[in-house]
Amino acid sequence: MSIKITDKVSWVGKVDWELKKFHGEELSTHKGSTYNSYLIQDEKTVLIDTVWTPYRDEFIARLQKYVDLDKIDYIVANHGEPDHSGSLPALMKLIPNTPIYCTANGVKSLRGQYHQDWDFQVVKTGTKLDIGSQELMFIEAPMLHWPDTMFTYAMGDGILFSNDAFGQHYATESLYNDKADPAELQYECLKYYANILTPFNRQVDRKIKEFVALNLPVNLICPSHGVIWRDNPLQIVQQYSRWADSYQENQVTILYDSMWDSTKKMAQAIARGITAADQDIIVKIYNVGQRDKNDIITEVFRSRAILVGSSTINRGILSAVAGILEEIKGLSFSGKKAAAFGSYGWSGESVKIITQELRDGGFDIINEGLRCLWTPDQENEQRCFQFGQEMVATLEGWQKA
Ligand code: FEO
Repeated sequence: MSIKITDKVSWVGKVDWELKKFHGEELSTHKGSTYNSYLIQDEKTVLIDTVWTPYRDEFIARLQKYVDLDKIDYIVANHGEPDHSGSLPALMKLIPNTPIYCTANGVKSLRGQYHQDWDFQVVKTGTKLDIGSQELMFIEAPMLHWPDTMFTYAMGDGILFSNDAFGQHYATESLYNDKADPAELQYECLKYYANILTPFNRQVDRKIKEFVALNLPVNLICPSHGVIWRDNPLQIVQQYSRWADSYQENQVTILYDSMWDSTKKMAQAIARGITAADQDIIVKIYNVGQRDKNDIITEVFRSRAILVGSSTINRGILSAVAGILEEIKGLSFSGKKAAAFGSYGWSGESVKIITQELRDGGFDIINEGLRCLWTPDQENEQRCFQFGQEMVATLEGWQKA
């Protein structure tokens, strides 16, 4: 399938409705994904990115129906990850002398993965490529989200080919943002940012400011996953600016795992305390052993504060809690508060361990946490309730952005 998006630009990618996991088993993709590849047929013919390796044969077969491969003058590789470069080895066997435009780091990543000495043309921010009726301008975008990433901007059409930035793992047949289910689209954009781009907030902010300062018209934003931003395309750029700035909603998220429901009872009593203190705060409770970790990360991203609980086991914490804390630490959240809780029967180290993990993850630790010996009785449930209330008291007044 190809879809014409302007007179000269076509989408020639792959919609993957069946994708459930991405980056190996690391990232859940409940709504599938797309691998967006674009073909520009001007005086010169340019292919921007390819699709993931499992779909290379169908991609190349479809491309051949649409264009004589020998007529492709240039390939642009905005980013080397295999979901965009995976078809290159097979394609380059057919058109081995076609120059590939990419960053210096792009050469490293493509050479490192495919061990081929293709005709790499290294570009920097501001490098232009004349393709006939217009020029393509390249804009390096390191750490959005790999060091090799760049954007390509079609100067005549005002199209920003942004690769992963502004994308979503969201399968769609209609391709444009104004044709997508708005709630699904919003959630998948948020999940994508929270799980992939959060560690690079500063680079996102800097790149957006740099791009805005160029004062270039933007008619379409064409990312490498999900929808093309056609209706008010800059809305996703503005959204990224907000997300990059220690984003919060008026939400507190309680994460826990529990061996015999004692820590679960603590979580529920804490939630009651939060709600009693402030009914406007959205409180969500997740058993991290049962729920998808990337959905949980998305909720952490939205939160002003998180409370993390675990039973003590073997002088440590439950493995599901350890796993989510490792994820949370790696994402380098900023401007969020946190505290720990947990029940124990014997040694009771869990709260101390969780508190340290949260501190290492950059959270503002509210207090040294709440421990409960054995199953919480009425008195201990009241302590949990107060713990929730006291946590609310540490939050500053909420101003909706
Ligand atoms: Fe869509 Fe970073 O690859």
